[in-house]
Amino acid sequence: METKIYTIETIEEAGQALKNGQIVAFPTETVYGLGAIASNDQAVASVYQVKGRPSDNPLIVHVSTIEQVIKVVESFPLAAKKLTNVFWPGPLTIILPVREGVFAPSVTGGRKTVAFRMPAHSLALALISACQEPIVGPSANKSGRPSPTKVSHVMDDFDGQIAGICDGGMTQIGLESTVLDLSDPEQFSILRPGFVSREAIEEVLGLNIHVASEKESAAKDEAPRAPGMKYRHYAPETPVMALSPNGDAWQAHIKSLNKQGNKIAILANQTLVDHFASQVHATYSLGQEGDIQSMAHHLFDGLRQLDKSGAQVILVESSEDSQLGLAYMNRLKKAVKAD
Ligand code: TXA
Ligand code: MG
Repeated sequence: METKIYTIETIEEAGQALKNGQIVAFPTETVYGLGAIASNDQAVASVYQVKGRPSDNPLIVHVSTIEQVIKVVESFPLAAKKLTNVFWPGPLTIILPVREGVFAPSVTGGRKTVAFRMPAHSLALALISACQEPIVGPSANKSGRPSPTKVSHVMDDFDGQIAGICDGGMTQIGLESTVLDLSDPEQFSILRPGFVSREAIEEVLGLNIHVASEKESAAKDEAPRAPGMKYRHYAPETPVMALSPNGDAWQAHIKSLNKQGNKIAILANQTLVDHFASQVHATYSLGQEGDIQSMAHHLFDGLRQLDKSGAQVILVESSEDSQLGLAYMNRLKKAVKAD
């Protein structure tokens, strides 16, 4: 199958491909997603198949209007109303109890809840409008690989296997949406940190939000809270090590890795890159020192590019564990883990 490139001019054609049960990747403000009509069981099944995604890991349903959510949920609580008013369209996914039989069990992973999000991207919204129905949109990477922030990343993983890709250039935020579970009225929980911070959500709701621990969201038990979190994620083939932005630590590691004959790649701020470029095999700059938005924007592209550099180890700069840094570190820690 030839994988076509669609633009806003040919978005109706992309919508038609979706209506025909095919898969079309699309850009959002976070990362690229793998689109298929959410009510088409077969199309959804082919998304799991082409991604190599475990069947117990449910998908996010992407909508272009709030009505598409209200129509299918058991209830639309006040908290959902307040949050969508402020953050939609945008990088916040909310989980709500859904009416039985609306979605294929594959969409929900057999659960009674569904994750919804309205992406803040004109091409994504135009695509959903073109097919007049919500679409699923897991990140458009093979299961376990870093999420895609460019058309070339989607091509690397799916060229010839999907009908097309809507070209929106490099995505703006670079890390996936915040996933917030609103299905338990007693306790709302962040299952995956993202651009919309806990603090911002707490301010809108006027109450404390629980952030699920790695253990809670990833527990390998029968019913993990966020099933996606229990799997290996965001990982290039090359082993990854995280290091705080302290020049002495970098010097020590680079020295000893070089001594052992390892080819090193570094993914770090411009100052560290400039300082160590001559001592390593490959570099990728995350931007100016301390610029967490730039770090988030470049992380996945950097991991993918350095994975192709022939290096045997990738050293990546870590950040503080708060606000957007919490999301950045969540992804980086998973890229570091060997399983
Ligand atoms: O930014 C994003 O959210 C991107 C773009 C393309 O929209 N999409 C994305 O989808 O990251 P995906 O499938 O890669 O991640 C969805 C996450 C998974 O960790 C999954 O387990 C969790 O959301 N999830 C989905 N539905 C859920 C549900 N009903 N209950 C608990 N967790 C759910
Ligand atoms: Mg993903």
